[in-house]
Amino acid sequence: MSTLGKKDLGVRKFDLLFSQDKIARRIREIGAEISRDYEDKDPILVGILKGCVVFMADLIRAISIPIEIEFVNATSYSNGQIQDDKVVLSDGPEVDLRNRHILIVEGVVDSGNTVDILIKNLSLMEPASIEIVTLLDKPNDRQKDVNIKYIGFDAGDDFVIGYGLDVSQKYRNLPFIGKVID
Ligand code: IMP
Ligand code: MG
Repeated sequence: MSTLGKKDLGVRKFDLLFSQDKIARRIREIGAEISRDYEDKDPILVGILKGCVVFMADLIRAISIPIEIEFVNATSYSNGQIQDDKVVLSDGPEVDLRNRHILIVEGVVDSGNTVDILIKNLSLMEPASIEIVTLLDKPNDRQKDVNIKYIGFDAGDDFVIGYGLDVSQKYRNLPFIGKVID
C-alpha cells in the first residue's frame, strides 16, 4: 500500500529528453552489438519487471541471433520519486542457468541496488557469465559498484518517465522518455 499524497497522483509536467526516433536508433545499435558479442553463446536475457518491458520488447527484436527470455520481478520500496535500498525479487527464472550466458535487461540503473541483488542471486546458479544492458544509466546516484556492458543513454540526474519507466506506476506507456520538471 503506497503512502502517496494527492499531489503525486496529479498530472506531471515533463520535458522531452529522448525522442522515439533517437531511442529506436540506439536500440538497433545495441541489438547489433549484442548479436555480434553473443554469437554462438545462446544467451538468456533476464528482464527486470516492470521497467524493462518496453525496452526489452524492442531490444529482442533488434537481436538477430537465437536467444531466450526470462523475467524477474523487482520491487524497490519507494515513495514517489524517492528510492531506498530495500529491493525484493520474486518470480525469478526457473530454468537451469548453470553454464549459461545471462544478460540482465533493465530500464534504468540508478543506485545499482536492484541489479546488484539480482547478480548476487543469479550467481548462485553458476552461470557462464552475467552482464547488464540498460536503456538508461544514472551513474551519479550509484551506491553499488556495478559494471554495465551496454548503456542506451546517460540520463544524468533527471527523474525520467516513459518507455516503461514510471512515477507512481503511471506514464510507462509514453513512447518517448521525458524528464519530470517539478
Ligand atoms: P536502482 O536504484 O538502480 O535499484 O533502481 C531501482 C528502480 O528505481 C529502477 O528499476 C526504477 O524502477 C526506479 N528508478 C530509478 N530512477 C528512476 C527514474 O528516473 N525514473 C523512473 N524510475 C526510476
Ligand atoms: Mg518505479
